Amino acid sequence: MSKKIHWGIIGLGSIAHKFAADLQRSDSAILHGVASRSMEKATEFASRYNAKKAYDSYEKLVNDPEIDVVYIATPHVFHFENTMMCLQKGKSVLCEKPMGIDTQQTQTMIAEAKARNLFLMEAIWTRFMPSIEKMLQLLNEKVIGDISSVHADFGFRTEFDPESRLFNKKLAGGSLLDIGIYPIFLSLLVLGIPSDIHAVARMTPTEIDSFCAMLFHYSTNEKAVLTSTFEANTPTEAFIHGTKGSIKLHRSFHEANTISLDIDGEITVFDLPHTGNGYVHEIEEVNRCIRDGKTESATLPLAFSEQLIKIIDRVKAEIGLKYS
Ligand SMILES: NC(=O)c1ccc[n+]([C@@H]2O[C@H](COP(=O)([O-])OP(=O)(O)OC[C@H]3O[C@@H](n4cnc5c(N)ncnc54)[C@H](OP(=O)(O)O)[C@@H]3O)[C@@H](O)[C@H]2O)c1
Repeated sequence: MSKKIHWGIIGLGSIAHKFAADLQRSDSAILHGVASRSMEKATEFASRYNAKKAYDSYEKLVNDPEIDVVYIATPHVFHFENTMMCLQKGKSVLCEKPMGIDTQQTQTMIAEAKARNLFLMEAIWTRFMPSIEKMLQLLNEKVIGDISSVHADFGFRTEFDPESRLFNKKLAGGSLLDIGIYPIFLSLLVLGIPSDIHAVARMTPTEIDSFCAMLFHYSTNEKAVLTSTFEANTPTEAFIHGTKGSIKLHRSFHEANTISLDIDGEITVFDLPHTGNGYVHEIEEVNRCIRDGKTESATLPLAFSEQLIKIIDRVKAEIGLKYS
């Protein structure tokens, strides 16, 4: 059996719990260490998920020589400094989305990883879902003909709390960066880079977007209609429409277990369950890449993350969203 990859986790919030549970489901991964700003939290987390080491500072974890790769699970605004610290200490990184809060941060992170010959990937777990692989296969086989449009929404209702990660401008809150990234990801995967972007938003008193509607136009005339919101429980589905039919990614499309193909009203349903909480697929990709000495994933390359944040920056400019 080949060497297991030793993982560390920085920032022990809600996503870190789901991710750690999935690390336990991977035969090729070991959760070696976890780091929190609180020792009590780190100790409790380590014992729950069988991590060997618990650290009360992110820096201490990064200095652990046994860790191969660090998963960054802090709020968006800390991804840059946390990732740069890991890379500068020789660690590979899987960084939660969005990798940086703007293009400049993201490009600096990518350049640092490349200069140090270290693995770096944005944790867009959706890219590794069996449902997305099936969707791409159907699109490549032109089963729905030529693509004409992508429609995707992501919305949930949550009370306005100016201090929370979702609404706090200092933590780079807003629906666009937090969940709008998924519809944009899908449009980039399926249609590439838009030539024109139109977007409107509703802003909160904390000056972040609680609702964002986007319309993308492509040079070959396809369209994407995308929304994100913290104001309502929207269907959170996605549709790819083509000249011969449509593909639907069922709720919640970013972790879809089911897709359906509609050709002139004849529906074929594909059940494609993800493993565990859905993070196992991206974990296996990182393990494979690191074991094979790769510095980026061919399935989710760094150039894709750079394009993704460039599109997000264009949307931000349209809606007047600015982070300091
Ligand atoms: N891929 C996905 O499915 C998915 C889902 C949800 C979120 N995310 C991403 O994961 C990241 C974290 O989201 P989350 O929902 O897990 O957030 P969360 O529950 O608020 O946890 C974030 C953790 O970051 C650490 N942290 C460091 N400085 C902080 C500060 N000043 N304020 C608050 N927390 C601080 C804390 O850990 P310690 O106290 O242990 O230091 C905190 O528990 C976000 O970037 C988000 O986009 C991804």
